[in-house]
Amino acid sequence: MSNIQSYIKENQTRFLDELFGFLRIPSISPEPKHKKDMLSAAEYVRKAILQAGADHAGIVSTDGNPVVYGEKTIRKDKPTILIYGHYDVMPAEPLDLWKSPPFEPEIRDGRIYARGANDDKGQLYMHVKAFEYLVRSRALQCNVRFLIEGEEETGSESLKKFCIQNKEMLSADIILVSDTSMLDEDTPSITVGLRGICYFEVKVSGPNRELHSGLYGGAVVNPANALARIITRLTDEQYRINIPGFYDDVMEIPQSERNEMKKTPFKLEEFKESIGITGTAGEKGYTTLERLGIRPSLDVNGIWGGYTGEGTKTIIPADAYAKISTRLVPNQDPEKIRVLFENYLAQIAPEGVHVTVKYLHGGPGYMAPVNSDAYRAASMAYEKVFRKKPLPVRSGGSIPIIAEFEKILGLKSILMGFGLESDAIHSPNENFRLNVFFKGIETISHFYGFYCA
Ligand code: BES
Ligand code: ZN
Repeated sequence: MSNIQSYIKENQTRFLDELFGFLRIPSISPEPKHKKDMLSAAEYVRKAILQAGADHAGIVSTDGNPVVYGEKTIRKDKPTILIYGHYDVMPAEPLDLWKSPPFEPEIRDGRIYARGANDDKGQLYMHVKAFEYLVRSRALQCNVRFLIEGEEETGSESLKKFCIQNKEMLSADIILVSDTSMLDEDTPSITVGLRGICYFEVKVSGPNRELHSGLYGGAVVNPANALARIITRLTDEQYRINIPGFYDDVMEIPQSERNEMKKTPFKLEEFKESIGITGTAGEKGYTTLERLGIRPSLDVNGIWGGYTGEGTKTIIPADAYAKISTRLVPNQDPEKIRVLFENYLAQIAPEGVHVTVKYLHGGPGYMAPVNSDAYRAASMAYEKVFRKKPLPVRSGGSIPIIAEFEKILGLKSILMGFGLESDAIHSPNENFRLNVFFKGIETISHFYGFYCA
């Protein structure tokens, strides 16, 4: 057994106790009522980094949620790794679908169940523990900086400002991030592409009060019906997005890269079965993996308005709402898409109702090179632990700050994720496999070994 393996074995109970303490804090960034929890989670991370061996670690308040910054300097002439992660999590609703409460972590069938178990508290904690091992075993050969935020799930606005204001402090050779997934446990992968995002809330307002649907129905425009019409006009029957100009900056991927992608082991039947669907659909001419990785998409995240209680109530709602997001590919500019979306909605708004669009957040996509020292180090680290060379993959998910790191700090990120499809991030019963948690710590410690050698 290697040193890191025995260190993990000797300390695994403590690692889990510590992670569980972190998971118990409901640091849900999209819900304003959790302000205090955001601070507790930040404080938890600060202490963890310090106890793991940082020279210092502090909390910096922002207009939004606090940023945690910590560092350990070995020697000025050594490379510097900047670790990024987030302590905020998504809302846990619908709560009744959780087998155990989302903020009371529990181990079942070799998995940790809790909101944030994977995304990103579990993955972030692996970094803290890998760092702890390197410090305590005196094997650390790089300077390390930790930059942990609490707004990833809401667009990272405050961290963006923080980066602009603290360029010097954040200088590094590479940013290391574990907030993505692997193809599966037997097929490790390194994420080389992320999609961007643009998120809106659309409100359709109609009459000045809810109306009796018998006395007014048929003569007054119903905001919920109007919203449904608007939504159907956003995409066509072929799953293409109808917004004029939307595809202008979408780059076609060279056939050679598409051929490479075809080699990625992906089992459509298993994919469908795992999420309980009978068929997939999406843009014509593209495979499921391509639809996720190299093409944009548009989805309604939630829709409400009118009477949704038990039984019936015969009314025409006064207004109706939808939360709508688009996923963008790397060359698309979220600011441009925002304008196109707003203009198109103004253009298709039915007469008789008033449509307003609120832009909630957005961020660009990202591409990472495979011919870098960091990629090679990551590749060797995965191979050492998972006994297979990882494949480069383009993910459909977004981490908006990653492109900003490149723009503001001039730094590339290496996306060493350890999530699995079955981890159900953002869903009820989010979980993280215990053995992946431990293997992740091991892999990260080897990354340091290869990168800093
Ligand atoms: N960890 C995810 C992103 C992710 C997961 C990327 C798996 C690739 C593979 C992250 O926490 C996330 O969910 N990001 C949001 C960003 C948005 C709210 C601005 C997303 O993608 O929905
Ligand atoms: Zn997430």
